[in-house]
Amino acid sequence: MAMRIDGKRISQQIKDELKEEVAALGEQGVKVCLAVIQVGNDPASTVYVGNKKKACAYVGIESLAYELPEETTEEELLNLVRELNKKDEVNGILVQLPLPDHIDEDKVIRTIAPEKDVDGFHPQSVGALSIGQKGFVSCTPAGIIQLLKRSDIAIDGKECVIVGRSNIVGKPMALLLLRENGTVTVCHSHTPDLKAVTRRADILVVAVGKAKMIDADYVREGAVVIDVGMDRDENGKLCGDVDFASVEPKASAITPVPGGVGPMTIAMLMHNCVESAKQNI
Ligand code: GUN
Repeated sequence: MAMRIDGKRISQQIKDELKEEVAALGEQGVKVCLAVIQVGNDPASTVYVGNKKKACAYVGIESLAYELPEETTEEELLNLVRELNKKDEVNGILVQLPLPDHIDEDKVIRTIAPEKDVDGFHPQSVGALSIGQKGFVSCTPAGIIQLLKRSDIAIDGKECVIVGRSNIVGKPMALLLLRENGTVTVCHSHTPDLKAVTRRADILVVAVGKAKMIDADYVREGAVVIDVGMDRDENGKLCGDVDFASVEPKASAITPVPGGVGPMTIAMLMHNCVESAKQNI
């Protein structure tokens, strides 16, 4: 039976470490502050934003919440971002995605100052990651690296296969695993024989957004399986992209959904905010 990688426990550990660090920074007169912008009231976004504010409060990071109406124009949003870019007391700026259709997401992301881009979505952050330079890293893949490291799972020399090539997870995940000396393959919807590739993996990361798509047939005996999915099954119950019941007996380690990758995203967001504040010392 696979070891369950406990994202709830590991994210708590990271938040506790950060809480101590924030307290120590406070003693030096350094404050950490995250501005969170939500446009409209998409219910899922409201939950995510609420969780981010809660995590900030726990760690000791000040959060500035900007809840803007759905009708906010692109220019109004860009002006708010520009204003926050200039405020020395704001270390991080997060614009919750998705944005309403009339706003160009790329333009908004490009307007965030790279030194405050705690989501790691700015082209400069992505470029820095791709050439191994300093910059903020997208929180979900950064959280997966922490899950592996803190579970004593070696990446160096391992065959790593990623299913999914999104800008937020698949692509940065590939770069991070490569940075850790993994041998990396990225699969996607045009990969002809997906099973043949995923079966090679020592470490399999799945981020496709299809409920229970990956069953035991896709997994090599003893593989480590990381499930980034947040889907609903046929009964409306939260599940991942991996068919947990089928894969768990075959894997050596596996992340559950919920309680695996999910909690790590916010922990790494907090980490990025603290790193940003430390740049100003
Ligand atoms: N929407 C869903 N996940 C995220 C995230 O990590 N950051 C932002 N800004 N929006 C999101």
